[in-house]
Amino acid sequence: MSDEGRLERLTSMMRRRGIVLPSFEIYGGVSGLIDYGPVGARIKRRVVESWVDHWTSHGDIVEIDSPSITPKEVLVASGHVGEFNDYMSECASCEAIFRSDHLIEDLHPNPDSISGDEIDKIISENNVACPNCGEFGWSPARPMNLMFPTTIGAMRGGREAFLRPETAQGMFMLYPSLYRHFKQKLPFGALQTGRGYRNEISPRQGMIRLREFNMAELEYFIDPEDPPEVDLGGWKNPVSLVPDPEGGFSGSRVATFSDALDEGIIKHPTVAWFLARTWDFLVSIGIDSSKVRFRQHTGTEMAHYASDCWDCEILGEYGWVECVGIANRTCHDLESHEAHSGTNLLRAWRQYSEPILVKKDVLSPNGSVIGPIFKGRSSDVSDALSEMQEIPDKIPFSLDISDGTSVEITPDMVTRRTDEVNVHGEWFTPHVVEPAFGIDRIIWHVIDHAFNESGKSGEEYTILSLDEKVTPFDVSVLPLFDKEGMGEIARKLASEINSIPGIRADIDTSRSIGRRYARADEIGVPWAITVDHSTIDDDTVTIRRRDNQMQIRVPIKIAIDGLRTRSLDSMF
Ligand code: GLY
Repeated sequence: MSDEGRLERLTSMMRRRGIVLPSFEIYGGVSGLIDYGPVGARIKRRVVESWVDHWTSHGDIVEIDSPSITPKEVLVASGHVGEFNDYMSECASCEAIFRSDHLIEDLHPNPDSISGDEIDKIISENNVACPNCGEFGWSPARPMNLMFPTTIGAMRGGREAFLRPETAQGMFMLYPSLYRHFKQKLPFGALQTGRGYRNEISPRQGMIRLREFNMAELEYFIDPEDPPEVDLGGWKNPVSLVPDPEGGFSGSRVATFSDALDEGIIKHPTVAWFLARTWDFLVSIGIDSSKVRFRQHTGTEMAHYASDCWDCEILGEYGWVECVGIANRTCHDLESHEAHSGTNLLRAWRQYSEPILVKKDVLSPNGSVIGPIFKGRSSDVSDALSEMQEIPDKIPFSLDISDGTSVEITPDMVTRRTDEVNVHGEWFTPHVVEPAFGIDRIIWHVIDHAFNESGKSGEEYTILSLDEKVTPFDVSVLPLFDKEGMGEIARKLASEINSIPGIRADIDTSRSIGRRYARADEIGVPWAITVDHSTIDDDTVTIRRRDNQMQIRVPIKIAIDGLRTRSLDSMF
């Protein structure tokens, strides 16, 4: 079939077959919210499980699970309260509100990256008309924070909070526990999957820009002075890279990850490694590798927390769409959370290979003064003095001691001197490299790339050629008729198949067998097992393969073993 109208046919198939549908439709729907139906929810579960397996198989990455409701202080520290904005412009005539960068997307190569003043200038110089009423007057572009506010507890007197705009903050909050889990040794990572919320000004493009969406994020904590060594030699295929033109590389490049790192196109080895493993993941779930590219953010486009960011973009019916962002968040989040929370728990210890002799100012306790004043607590006071990391400029000062109280230290209690001490290491704030995946966008492209309308011998026939890792069901069990015992055998067979760990069978008994094959092909079920009259006599079934519609007849036991050992392919 021609490509014209493909987007509409794809969207309509996804709705008809219960993959993705608009939410709350009987009440008119809400833009930016979607439901995964019975078929889509299974695809989503498998994509998410594949993602978690892909990363946790490394051994130094663990899964966690944090709340969606996040106290305001956390998001003040992370910068989201101050910086997580999009510009909006309001039509002076009809008062319709639009995302400002959408109004000028044909007039600027990167409208997401420019200031409000620049946006206003482009709107006025180009006489941009309101898409709603056609008039030309606009309010100045102004920033709108994208987070959904909420209150923890009673509306009045409750604690201000937001629905999380990213899952990443959960990993930062759990850093002390992760550091303990990994026995105080970097590098290590933590990931989580779950919902994120952004109150988009004008959501559009179906499941590409949502207000509540599925995220999968990984924070990898490293020592910036000793990042893990990477060996990218295993990735032989060149990939398409679009570096930031301001970074000294113009145009796009096709290079292996290893060459891109050696040539300085990708600057950080850990970032390069995550680009490579992201590519592996996408290809493993059926994304067409010729439709993947990595584009580096320009300086003004970068999120407030990043010092470098590469988007992995996938080509589909909506053009090139950002589906993964791989950002070097440096120490931004951990450092800021330490400062805002007043703790010092978000650090790691760097052991020197040799102790270093350093000169250090110390306050040595004068026992003859301290003893009579503090009596039983004088040794606690002496210990606290010797453990002080910084000597205050002014004396007297207040000193916390180990019994939880404070004492006042006066000049006669201490002597200031400079000692030479052996220092064995230091505390530092780890840096973080983060791959952040938009699961809904990835699912859209998995389905887009698998949506095969070439059909059988010129007929209109659709096959969703999903990779077996992400099919909604592994097999459809189809009784030729739901009578003469065939339906019963099919139900027993489906239940036996469903007892195999990780394998799911669907059973379909309605309408003609041809229609049922077509339905299974359209939602990407790779195998169909048909129970017919011969099954009643000799315990054999036919197995049909989605991708070429070939059929073979085998004993039921062989069919079940083939599913269990995932070896049906070898029978064809
Ligand atoms: N954590 C990445 C993002 O918010 O997009």
